[in-house]
Amino acid sequence: MKKKKLLVVGGGGREHAVSWLLSKSALVEKLYFAPGNAGMAKLGECVKIAANDTGSLVQFAREREIDLTFIGPEEPLVMGIVDRFTEAGLRAFGPTKEASRLEGSKVYAKEFMKRHGIPTAQFQVFDSYEEALGALAGNRGRTVVKADGLAYGKGVVVAESPDEARDAIRHMMVEKKFMTSGNRIVIEEFLEGEEVSIIALTDGEIFLPLVPSQDHKRAFDGDRGPNTGGMGAYAPFHFAESGELEKEVYEILSRTVAGLREDGVCYKGVIYCGLILTKSGPRVLEYNCRLGDPEAQAILPLLKDDLLHVLDAVVEGKGLPQSLTWEDGFCVAVMIASGGYPGSYSTGFPIDGIEEAERGGALVLHAGTGLEKGKTVTKGGRVLSVCAKGKTLFEAQKNAYEACSKISFKGAFCRTDIAGRGIDREAQLNLRKG
Ligand code: AMP
Ligand code: GLY
Repeated sequence: MKKKKLLVVGGGGREHAVSWLLSKSALVEKLYFAPGNAGMAKLGECVKIAANDTGSLVQFAREREIDLTFIGPEEPLVMGIVDRFTEAGLRAFGPTKEASRLEGSKVYAKEFMKRHGIPTAQFQVFDSYEEALGALAGNRGRTVVKADGLAYGKGVVVAESPDEARDAIRHMMVEKKFMTSGNRIVIEEFLEGEEVSIIALTDGEIFLPLVPSQDHKRAFDGDRGPNTGGMGAYAPFHFAESGELEKEVYEILSRTVAGLREDGVCYKGVIYCGLILTKSGPRVLEYNCRLGDPEAQAILPLLKDDLLHVLDAVVEGKGLPQSLTWEDGFCVAVMIASGGYPGSYSTGFPIDGIEEAERGGALVLHAGTGLEKGKTVTKGGRVLSVCAKGKTLFEAQKNAYEACSKISFKGAFCRTDIAGRGIDREAQLNLRKG
């Protein structure tokens, strides 16, 4: 079979994870990254094109005769990059603009779920500031306020009081903190429970689930502090033995794919259901049209199949295997971040110890790094995803933190309890098994 030239769009830990796996494929001739990062540069060639510069990406793919382009982040997908590639006769992996609305518009996603009987938090939609405020009358507890459109992962506010909810509504609708993304908002009930990320690949007909995973969104240990892009993840997440919950969760995925088809939406690519496991069953918090970050860093190291083969099958809409094959054991991905993140932080600090951590068997994926005079330096809030495997979740966690201890840069911090809740959960499941 002819080997392929691939372009990976994006430059975070998720894209490094995808690129690392693609670099192991026997079917790959050359990898290009736009814009990539210092870690990805070791696997192929980085080109200076931003991930949302669709015109330049199409031109580059045409000139270099790229066989397949993988789109990592949501912004280009929601803007319609896959449609532009297809119009230019090029192959790109990811949902179209129409299909990406599942992530691009919270209102669309909520109405989609309502239409198809998919369990989610109760909600109301507002495009008037006064009416939105009116909805808070008589409400004393926590509520969740969501900007309709993309908002760099910051468009969801879990308000502890009506005052906080009012502030959030004003920021979105009056002060236009997220520009037009906040013209419409969703106000929804607060749900309590453990969160789990269910991600699958679909060609629009069938879906192939990846192993379930769990993200850690808060900045500090014990799930305290502000929300971040994700401070770490582990996979697989195990549902309780009874199997009931797991069945319900996959029923949600199945209804989602079927619902899209019924609506006449051809959805090909990654579909991500962010779920919360409430006492009354699983509920969908959000859909994403791409892999999770940092979930991808915990999931992909466990995948045994040739990733390119699977991506090709999704794009072609035929030849998807019956299921994916996974290594036994667990993977933990710990994010090392810049001091101050998710608030303001400085960049440009040299990073030490990456090779040493890798020599110990860890996989160090770059999230926000660059090269300055040949030295790897910090370039973002989330800097490195340090990934390690183990036969048990406990062992994987231990290996990941051992690797983290070898890495240093000015102001570096990480959570020290990534996968901690999962380890307790595994212990309980094992106890119940006897
Ligand atoms: P989203 O971008 O919709 O996933 O929201 C980001 C985070 O906000 C989620 O991962 C949850 O931790 C939290 N969240 C969103 N919606 C709700 C809800 N209805 N109840 C409780 N927490 C929520
Ligand atoms: N880890 C959450 C996300 O990728 O949206």
